[in-house]
Amino acid sequence: MMESYERDGVIIYAGDSLDLYSKWESPVVIISDGPYGVGGYRGDPPTSECLREWYHPHIEKWSEYSTPMTTLWFWNTEIGWANVHPTLVEHGWEYRNCHIWDKGIAHIAGNSNSKTLRKFPVATEVCVQYTKKAFFKVDSIQMDMQQWLRYEWERTGLPLYKTNEACGVRNAATRKYFTKDHLWYYPPPEAFEKIVEYANRYGSEDGKPYFSLDGQIPITGRGWTKLRSKFYCENGITNVWREPAVRGNERLKKEYKCIHNNQKPLRLISLCIRSSSDAGDAIWEPFGGLCSAAISAHELKRKCYAAEINDEYFKPAVERLKNYDIYQEFKLI
Ligand SMILES: C[S@@+](CC[C@H](N)C(=O)[O-])C[C@H]1O[C@@H](n2cnc3c(N)ncnc32)[C@H](O)[C@@H]1O
Repeated sequence: MMESYERDGVIIYAGDSLDLYSKWESPVVIISDGPYGVGGYRGDPPTSECLREWYHPHIEKWSEYSTPMTTLWFWNTEIGWANVHPTLVEHGWEYRNCHIWDKGIAHIAGNSNSKTLRKFPVATEVCVQYTKKAFFKVDSIQMDMQQWLRYEWERTGLPLYKTNEACGVRNAATRKYFTKDHLWYYPPPEAFEKIVEYANRYGSEDGKPYFSLDGQIPITGRGWTKLRSKFYCENGITNVWREPAVRGNERLKKEYKCIHNNQKPLRLISLCIRSSSDAGDAIWEPFGGLCSAAISAHELKRKCYAAEINDEYFKPAVERLKNYDIYQEFKLI
């Protein structure tokens, strides 16, 4: 049996996440902070070109166990991410935004020989947000949500402008929810319910039900919300995250030495979790390190499944989760 530690629904496993995904509850959020291709710790490949192959089996599993409600936050160096991005896209992950973690000048001060390296010093990492696009299968043809909405309405035999009547608006429904172009919007559940009601009341008898996934009952407003990832936008936050590298009391040390070079700031990990999930949702942290996502998830009352393959990190991560209340004193979250 694999060793693990649980506190209030937050579990850290000692082992390879690839062996664990099938046992974990489907994720609402995945925080991936895995290898960077810089040989930074045991198991980190030596170059960023190796990352595509390295991440491939993980991405396959994330795609298999995720739903359209899932948001992936993929942390890496710029070049590491560039190498892995095509594989994510091939596996159905839709790019949303690239966040730049700017650690500030203090991060490199006195610590970089730019003249020899012939480039400016690097003070950033990226955290890239992806979502899992919903696809609808119709007679073995795959459609995205925009195509499927239009397809279903066309099946009713009703003219497109009637979608406005269905929603009780002048022209916004046709313009926003049924357009073919890039100005398309996801219909909010209240609008979707009205569209479904109208289509199934006035649409042609032979095609009913409309807007159904199983051919039996139409999707409800609640069901509709599950076909999209969550996003809560906090005021004053842009895609540039200015935050010093972890230091002071938050930095886990053993005999004055940092235990893990890649420990992420709780403030940033917490932002990712807050903005894409609700209390009770399942968070995955497949590359735990000191398990900053597990700590944030616990603080935010989410469930969390974390894995760390190296014992030298697993043990302090567990101690951190056991004792983490001390971090609250520093108002890190
Ligand atoms: C960049 S670090 C994560 C740091 C973490 N975000 C934190 O704040 O402490 C990546 C970690 O993933 C672990 N790791 C790599 N491959 C793994 C795998 N297949 N399963 C579980 N852990 C893995 C490494 O040992 C390393 O500690």
